[in-house]
Amino acid sequence: MVSYIVAAAILVAIYVVTYYNFLKGIPCRSDTSLRGKTVIVTGANTGIGKETALDMARRGARVILACRNKERAEAAVFDIRRKSGNNQVIFMHLDLASLKSVRAFAETFLKSEPQLHVLINNAGVGSGNKTVDGYNTVLGVNHLGHFLLTHLLLDRLKQCAPSRIVTVASMMYRFGKIDFSNLNPPGKSFIQQMRNYSCSKLCNILFVRELANCLEGTKVTCYSVHPGVVNTEAFRYMKFWQKMLFFPFVALFFRTPTDGAQMSIYCAVQEGIEKFSGRYFTNCKVQEVLPHARDDAVARKLWEVSERMVGLRSY
Ligand SMILES: NC(=O)c1ccc[n+]([C@@H]2O[C@H](COP(=O)([O-])OP(=O)(O)OC[C@H]3O[C@@H](n4cnc5c(N)ncnc54)[C@H](OP(=O)(O)O)[C@@H]3O)[C@@H](O)[C@H]2O)c1
Ligand SMILES: *[C@@H]1O[C@H](CO)[C@@H](O)[C@H](O)[C@H]1NC(C)=O
Ligand SMILES: *[C@@H]1O[C@H](CO)[C@@H](O)[C@H](O)[C@H]1NC(C)=O
Repeated sequence: MVSYIVAAAILVAIYVVTYYNFLKGIPCRSDTSLRGKTVIVTGANTGIGKETALDMARRGARVILACRNKERAEAAVFDIRRKSGNNQVIFMHLDLASLKSVRAFAETFLKSEPQLHVLINNAGVGSGNKTVDGYNTVLGVNHLGHFLLTHLLLDRLKQCAPSRIVTVASMMYRFGKIDFSNLNPPGKSFIQQMRNYSCSKLCNILFVRELANCLEGTKVTCYSVHPGVVNTEAFRYMKFWQKMLFFPFVALFFRTPTDGAQMSIYCAVQEGIEKFSGRYFTNCKVQEVLPHARDDAVARKLWEVSERMVGLRSY
């Protein structure tokens, strides 16, 4: 009996040490104020995006929650205002699965908001069928929508420089592969959808890499991040049995959304990281990505293909 108790105590101790040293992640320690600055966070009504927006609000920023669902977004606005004591938190409609909506958002924003200092491309989906424009939803929301959004807001970011663009990617990029001849068909099985997700996150990283080249000398810098493995609503579309299988892992090993937001916050505010523009961050450090995620020829090609897909280039 005693030996069982000792064994259990050792297991718990190992778990606690592992959790706090490896799983919880490293908090952003910068105390940079964002008073007088404007920040956009996409998909800010829940999960990592909401915690990121809350932190930006606590730093005094004017924060735009760019979300697709009005009710959910307004509930988040209410919550973030209450928790931060900052009333400069507002909702603007953005559905990244519609290029028309992305353009409408940018138009409204540029008309009503004179400044933009930080754009956080956070929204993401793990599965889906087709976007309004007929593209694979996972690629459309995670990459194409943010690609267009970033382009439309770039001049304003340049006018307000120094400014930053943070794109939430994922370590799942490792398993990503881009088949340029066959981007549109959405994956059907769980595995195919996971592959589509990995591909979209690889696109995030390659986009940021190429973007940094275009932005050289502008004092606008950009970063991609892996937030860790985070317990958010991202898993809400799983089937019941998948959730049941998943639950013990989630409970034990996943980060809280607050911990998961630290990487986005870090890249938005940390002083002195400008020299790492275009790079990928995890655990509050820059990390070298695998060769397929730093292939400049593929990054260039993805840029051109994306320009065509979102209608920024007609040839
Ligand atoms: N959770 C993780 O372990 C993990 C790991 C690596 C990377 N990430 C990345 O982190 C980011 C945030 O994910 P999360 O875990 O916080 O997920 P989440 O809780 O599911 O939140 C995703 C957000 O994106 C929004 N969104 C989805 N489709 C949209 C669309 N068409 N237009 C506008 N907004 C849309 C959602 O809005 P609704 O509420 O209206 O659906 C929601 O606000 C994603 O890019 C994800 O890929 C997450
Ligand atoms: C996806 O859309 C296609 C055509 O738009 C449809 O035939 C198919 O049933 C849809 N699949 C799912 C899983 O909804
Ligand atoms: C999505 O998955 C389908 C089916 O496996 C594949 O044909 C397509 O190329 C994938 N698209 C992306 C963007 O990963």
